Amino acid sequence: MKIIAKKDKDAVAQAAAEIYISALKENPDMVLGLATGSTPLDLYAKLIEANKKGDISFDRVKTFNLDNYIGLPADHEGSYEYYMQENFFNHIDIDPENCHIPPGISDDFPGFCQDYEAAIQAAGGIDLMLLGVGENGHIAFNEPAHKLQAMTHVAQLSPNTIQVNSRFFDRVEDVPTQAVSMGVGSILRSRKIVLLATGTKKKPTIQKLLQEDLIDPAFPISFLKAHPDATLIIEEDYLK
Ligand code: F6R
Repeated sequence: MKIIAKKDKDAVAQAAAEIYISALKENPDMVLGLATGSTPLDLYAKLIEANKKGDISFDRVKTFNLDNYIGLPADHEGSYEYYMQENFFNHIDIDPENCHIPPGISDDFPGFCQDYEAAIQAAGGIDLMLLGVGENGHIAFNEPAHKLQAMTHVAQLSPNTIQVNSRFFDRVEDVPTQAVSMGVGSILRSRKIVLLATGTKKKPTIQKLLQEDLIDPAFPISFLKAHPDATLIIEEDYLK
């Protein structure tokens, strides 16, 4: 794992934006894996700005989101479809047909999961995967467990994740308990991975990752140690 340490969350987003901007200039046909949550918001804002200035274009880019809650329609404010439109897609020159997000509503989730993996492969695989991390070490909705699912699947959210994510909902009871999520294998198949972590709450998570030379399903982020091109962009304070 390569580590890039920056002084604050804006500098983390700036370092990530520079990676995306140079990658998109080199390959305008990139396939991007995308994350939601609080962490990537500053990066998305910087990429929107670069797109508006004409530095980069998304008109040939394809995207696949990591995950989405089960049970929320696309127009629900907590849905990741809503999040992606509001925070990124509505503001860039991307073709909506090229944006793939797991649905919150479906009558065949297992069928969807298989089709999603096939669609990623048909697009040529993911060139650059963006990740955040949960305080408990989850990546996408691969929660700490004895065994982890390899490919896209229906995931149960842990009580910790439900609690942490309740900040996006009126009441903790409103947080969905299930999600569609890429698996650890789907993530590790990506050619390059960039994980962003900011804020004091993620400091113990990243410190644990850097201190232990273990790959442990009870700490899913540790699987990034097995990837040949994974970069963590974190706050300098995490190294103290
Ligand atoms: C989101 C996702 C999650 C988040 C993680 C951190 O698509 O897959 O794993 O990256 O829960 O969320 P934030 O950034 O809100 O702290």
